[in-house]
Amino acid sequence: MTTRKQIHIGLSIAPTWLMNDGWRRDDSNVENIFSTDFYVDIAKKAEKAKLDFLFRPDTLFMKPEMVAGSPGFSSLDPTIQLAAIAEHTSHIGLVTTASTTFYPPYIVARQLQSLNLLSKGRAGWNIVTSLDGNENFGLSEMPSSEDRYRQAAEFSDVVHKLWGSYPSTVIRNDRDAGVYGDPDAISSIDHHGEFYDVTGPLNTPAFGNGKLPLFQAGASPAGRDFAASVAHAIFAATPDKEVARELRSDLRERAAQKGRDPDDIRILPGLNMYLAPTREEARAIFTQTHARMDPARQIAKVCELIGLDLKNHPMDARVTKDMLPAPDTQVRSKTHGDLVRRLIEREEPTVKDLLTRPEVMGSSHWIVVGTPDDAVNEIVAWAEVKAGDGIIALPSGSIQSVDLFLDQVVPRLQQMGLFRLDYSGSTLADHLGVR
Ligand SMILES: Cc1cc2nc3c(=O)[nH]c(=O)nc-3n(C[C@H](O)[C@H](O)[C@H](O)COP(=O)(O)O)c2cc1C
Repeated sequence: MTTRKQIHIGLSIAPTWLMNDGWRRDDSNVENIFSTDFYVDIAKKAEKAKLDFLFRPDTLFMKPEMVAGSPGFSSLDPTIQLAAIAEHTSHIGLVTTASTTFYPPYIVARQLQSLNLLSKGRAGWNIVTSLDGNENFGLSEMPSSEDRYRQAAEFSDVVHKLWGSYPSTVIRNDRDAGVYGDPDAISSIDHHGEFYDVTGPLNTPAFGNGKLPLFQAGASPAGRDFAASVAHAIFAATPDKEVARELRSDLRERAAQKGRDPDDIRILPGLNMYLAPTREEARAIFTQTHARMDPARQIAKVCELIGLDLKNHPMDARVTKDMLPAPDTQVRSKTHGDLVRRLIEREEPTVKDLLTRPEVMGSSHWIVVGTPDDAVNEIVAWAEVKAGDGIIALPSGSIQSVDLFLDQVVPRLQQMGLFRLDYSGSTLADHLGVR
């Protein structure tokens, strides 16, 4: 028995360990990233470790220059990929990503319920409002973050109504009477709103009660309000404990204000882990992975993140808070931009230092470079100060990070009573405790 609150653990199958120069390693298996086998092997190991879910972020655009030095955002469709993985697994949750800015809600409702049926209740939806890709969907520019969240709120409302329109109880399968189902139990939704007109019903029946756990990531005020209304879990970009604690307590408060139980919203910081048997080896992998990091590209990234041009600023000079553009400057992601601004306001780092920080070098995620014990100690330290309700693991640098995480980090968390020893249910809602 333990009195410790157990954490939730998801594993990103993006695959993060091939990013930057990770794919160049002999053991990267990069030739097979568009095959089922590449992921099934990892999915089976993650299920053996009793993880809550596999997580597949997604984008809907391609910049040709991205493929010059790494696979970039080249990827399979996430829902089709997870449907293939569903066939080879039985318990682990499968969280796919679908954009509310670009997709029609009927299609998303149907794809998710299909994944839910095929996996017997293991599907989850990572709701994104997206940062790029408008040119692929007939939009001359990205709508503002606020407009995207207003659309996302209506979108998710339509999806929920569609999931309720064809309940599982409709189906009778009464061969003798010749009755397949009860048409009276199916209802149209007749939705007419600002963005969508959808009559319904859905033509895919619900699995069980039809509800499936919702994930969200954007942490601007509009993003937090949206998350507090609908999300069960947050994929959080939190480079340090303090950011994570602030986000967690703010989201819990917002959820309570909306009449929800604060415990129904779980904060899951992304955790980049460069793992090896020794710290020296882990540091070497980290350095090798980023060996070709181009300062000019990183400087362009700062400009994209916060609108600050550092091209003519000496590398050893400090970036001071008075250099920051006005806070209302339009940026791609307010969440990521605000984290960079916060770093500059607090530390006024040199350009050289700024370019190597997670807020610029990565996606603002928490990073551990070290041994499995280092990762365990960090995870425990964050859990103890309530800087989250678990993690989404982003193993980095090499496949070794995936293996050490599943073979050593997770078992140690289990021994400490911080993570489940076995599944107590078979759906993603069961694993997350979503009612
Ligand atoms: C940690 C994190 C992960 C995200 N993952 C995705 C993703 O996989 N696909 C995507 O299209 N957008 C993704 N987004 C973008 C968000 O859905 C959202 O559009 C963006 O953060 C703007 O919202 P904000 O103003 O609240 O920051 C992500 C954002 C964050 C912070």
